[in-house]
Amino acid sequence: MERTLSIIKPEAVARGLIGDIVSRFEHAGLKVVAARLTRLDKQRAEAFYEVHRERPFFNSLTDYMSTGPIFVSVLEGDGAIARNREIMGATDPAKAEAGTIRKDWGTNVEANAVHGSDASETAAAEIAFFFNADEIQSSGS
Ligand code: CMP
Repeated sequence: MERTLSIIKPEAVARGLIGDIVSRFEHAGLKVVAARLTRLDKQRAEAFYEVHRERPFFNSLTDYMSTGPIFVSVLEGDGAIARNREIMGATDPAKAEAGTIRKDWGTNVEANAVHGSDASETAAAEIAFFFNADEIQSSGS
């Protein structure tokens, strides 16, 4: 069993896509074991995306991520990190495969509907960024 962090980004939340996107997770066999609607201010967005600080898109990305509510969740399942990345599709929605979340609902590389952890160390850090251990339900409960 593995856990990964998912974020439904501001534009997708504003468009009322939480239900559709969570449904994709569940149909892919990923179980939602923690979830919350929240909001990042600029400083928290910068902290979350710290690894990208030197990238040219850092300022624009962190501005965007603090424009409105986001839906954060912890997804659990066998190979959850890779499975989630598969159903999200490529970072750039224009390059994502048909039937993926980003292809269906992403607008551009920044407003690409969802974020998902890319490796086990980042998943652990990203989950801890949003959730305390006692807010995460154990599988099957
Ligand atoms: P996300 O999974 O949230 O992780 C970092 C984000 O940076 C990525 O999705 C994109 O939304 C955003 N981003 C903006 N421009 C680029 C780019 N040129 N390459 C990669 N990611 C980018």
